[in-house]
Amino acid sequence: MPVRTETRTMLASDEATAAAVRRLADGGLVAFPTETVYGLGADATNAEAIARLYLAKGRPSFNPLIAHVGDRIAAQRIARFDANAEKLANAFWPGPLTLVLPRAADCPVAELATAGLETIAMRVPAHPIARDILSTFGKPVVAPSANVSGHVSPTTAQHVEADLKGKIDLIVDGGPTQVGLESTIVGCFETPLLLRPGGLARGEIESVLRMRLADLPQFETTAQPLAPGMLASHYAPRSPVRLNATTLEPGEALLAFGTPAVAGVDKAAAILNLSTRGDLVEAAANLFRHLRELDAKDAIQIAVMPIPNEGLGEAINDRLRRAAV
Ligand code: TXA
Ligand code: MG
Repeated sequence: MPVRTETRTMLASDEATAAAVRRLADGGLVAFPTETVYGLGADATNAEAIARLYLAKGRPSFNPLIAHVGDRIAAQRIARFDANAEKLANAFWPGPLTLVLPRAADCPVAELATAGLETIAMRVPAHPIARDILSTFGKPVVAPSANVSGHVSPTTAQHVEADLKGKIDLIVDGGPTQVGLESTIVGCFETPLLLRPGGLARGEIESVLRMRLADLPQFETTAQPLAPGMLASHYAPRSPVRLNATTLEPGEALLAFGTPAVAGVDKAAAILNLSTRGDLVEAAANLFRHLRELDAKDAIQIAVMPIPNEGLGEAINDRLRRAAV
C-alpha cells in the first residue's frame, strides 16, 4: 500500500461531504472538523483502512480509537449502555463527551480499532459537518485527532495539512474548531471513571450523575491500562515547555493567561495570550493553536503562566503537563 498519497483539501459543502463519504467507503482516510479538534476518519468496520490510519499517524497500534456515530441509536448497535451511560448520553450527546462502554455482542467495529480491549470508546460529535458525514456514511467512523502521533491536536485544516499532507486522501476544511480540546472520556465501569479530562468539564458530568467521578491512578501498572492513550508525553510541541512561570528568562516565549503579570515580559521572544479576560472556555479554544504558533518562533523555551485548575482548566493543565514532559 502506498504511503504517499495526494491529499485534497475541500471547503465544507455538500460536495465535500459526498467526497468524504466516497473516500471512507473506499477505505480512504478523511480529516474532518468536529467541535473539539479535527479528526482523521476511517471506516471503523474496515481493518485495512484502520491499519492505514495507524500508519499515517505513526501511532502505536495498541492505542485504541474512538468510534464516532451520528446518533444514539447507531451507538446502541455497537456498545452496551448501563444506567449511567444512558444518563450521560441523554445529557451530553451530541457533544464533547466520549463514553467507554462494553462492546455489544455483534459489534461491527474491527478488533484492530479497539486494540483487543473488550470495551469501546464511543462519541456522537456535535459539529454539523461531522454529523453530516456520519449520518450520510451510515457506518461508524474511527477518528483519532488528525495529527502525527504525539503532536499537538489540530484545531484548523491548516494544522492537519502541516502534519498529514501526502499521507491522507481528503481534508474537509470547516474553519477553526469551537471547543479546541479533545472530548472528555468517561469509563462507564461500576464506578464511573474520568479517563481523560477534556472539552466537557468534570463538574457538569458529576452533576448529571449525582456522584463524583473516580480518577485514574496517576501511574497505571496493569498490563492492560484503562486509558492506554494517556502516555505521559503527548500533545508535545518541539520547543521545551515550562509551566507555572512567574518570571520570564531571556529568549523564552510566553504563553499568557489573563493579565501577563510576569517579570521580564519585555524580553519575550514572542507572547500569545490564551484569554486576556481570563476566560477558560476561550483559553481552551486557543490552546493548541497558540502552542503551535509559539513553537514556530524557535524560542529557547515556551513559558506558560499558571492556569486555574477549575472547569476546563483541568483539561488545559492536563495537556500542558503532557506538553512539558
Ligand atoms: O475530541 C476527540 O475525542 C477527538 C475527536 C476527533 O473526536 N478524538 C480524539 O481521539 O481525541 P484520540 O484517538 O486522539 O484519543 C482517543 C483516546 C486515546 O487516549 C485512547 O487511548 C482512548 O481514547 N481510548 C480509546 N478507546 C478506549 C478504550 N476502550 N478504553 C480506554 N481508553 C480508550
Ligand atoms: Mg490524539
